[in-house]
Amino acid sequence: MPATVVVGTQWGDEGKGRFTDLVAAEMDMVVRYQGGHNAGHRLVVDGQAFALQLVPSGVLYSHITPVIGNGVVVDPRVLIAEMDSLQSRGVDCSAVRLSGNAHLVMPYHQELDALHERHLGEAKLGTTKRGIGPAYADKSMRIGLRVQDLLDPRIFRAKLDVSLGHTNKVLAKVFNRLPMRADDIVAEYLDECAPRLKAHICDAVALLHEALESGRQVLFEGAQATFLDLDHGTYPFVTSSNPVAGGVCIGAGIGPRRIDRVIGVAKAYVTRVGSGPFVTELFDEVGDHLVTVGGEFGTNTGRRRRTGWLDLVMLRHAVRLNSLTEVALTKLDVLDGLDRLKVCVAYELDGERYEHMPYHQSVIHKAVPVYAELDGWSTDLSGITSSAELPAAAADYIAFLEEGIGVPIRLVGVGPGRSQYLYWQEAA
Ligand code: GDP
Ligand code: IMO
Ligand code: MG
Repeated sequence: MPATVVVGTQWGDEGKGRFTDLVAAEMDMVVRYQGGHNAGHRLVVDGQAFALQLVPSGVLYSHITPVIGNGVVVDPRVLIAEMDSLQSRGVDCSAVRLSGNAHLVMPYHQELDALHERHLGEAKLGTTKRGIGPAYADKSMRIGLRVQDLLDPRIFRAKLDVSLGHTNKVLAKVFNRLPMRADDIVAEYLDECAPRLKAHICDAVALLHEALESGRQVLFEGAQATFLDLDHGTYPFVTSSNPVAGGVCIGAGIGPRRIDRVIGVAKAYVTRVGSGPFVTELFDEVGDHLVTVGGEFGTNTGRRRRTGWLDLVMLRHAVRLNSLTEVALTKLDVLDGLDRLKVCVAYELDGERYEHMPYHQSVIHKAVPVYAELDGWSTDLSGITSSAELPAAAADYIAFLEEGIGVPIRLVGVGPGRSQYLYWQEAA
């Protein structure tokens, strides 16, 4: 099985980085295919925590080639700072490869992101303010700058003049802000960043295909998640890329027939950061339990995450959209100590029942969850390493989810550490 995808099935922060790191032990290459430094993937190895934004989660293994694909938007200053910080902690980043076709996040993208959010007022999306939306917008408008432009000062300057010329008009005339200076950006991006990144820039499509053709194992690491997908998520409360498994084809440059295995990562409950509908959201002490025990504060922005019961309507849709072959369930241990557990099995609105995701956003905004209730458990799951050791109620909870999702749950996380997991189903 040379090509595997790890994809988020909810609204992000399911533990994709953690399972990518785990599965990466058997891989040769880990590739990011979309998003940018809006991602925050936290890994805990030997008690040490790492929060990755742009560098793929396989970086902690010396045998892995971590690749940032063409579909990612890259702030070179953030990438350099992240690699420096990893290096200072003894993680070798010399093997990191960066697609020359990836687009650059520019300083004005970040400024525009913040201005758009302020302008939207009550309707704001709650973005990470990293400039992700404006960078993808420039890519679509065909005025973006790419990583390969860092290697050619003349082209970089010419493209910057076009892009910044446009943006400075928007800054001045729409937002009443001072223009940004091209010379300052050139000094930062060309003089400081380009020499640092030069050795990492490559033809990532060729690298990837050479690896696949020689039978190497490649893992594609999703950032964000299915319901933050620009096309399939809860638009407009989404990110500006395509995290779904199909995004791999565009964002890394392979055809769909290359993908053999798609692991959907699902939290044992649901969280969301930022605005948008959330059918099973909790505003009570159970919601507080999930935040406190689950440490539900953004890896990247520190924001408190919204929490709710697990939603099978979402997961069934994630199975369809991503062709999931299996699910990895995370944070089961966070449910320890809750008396009763609820699982949303369907939505209801105006007398109609929805077992599959309604296509109309208004229905999603107003839908009421239909819950099944299950027994909780009081056992501490964090030290459990095999399914046979699970208390009956925890095993029943997993079996109930598996039945409702319709694909096997393979791995179950019972703590953030590398060894804190168990196999529910062995690989076929
Ligand atoms: P990602 O963005 O999908 O990679 O997820 P994040 O890293 O943003 O958030 C997941 C959080 O849950 C991180 O703090 C992980 O260390 C932590 N985590 C992952 N799996 C488990 C688990 O099974 N149990 C517990 N308690 N924490 C976990
Ligand atoms: P990982 O990879 C959770 C959310 C933001 C906001 C919306 C749009 O760690 O799972 P953006 O800055 O992308 O334009 O914001 O998407 N968001 C995430 N939420 N996890 C993430 O990444 C996210 N990346 C973006 O909170 O609601
Ligand atoms: Mg995260």
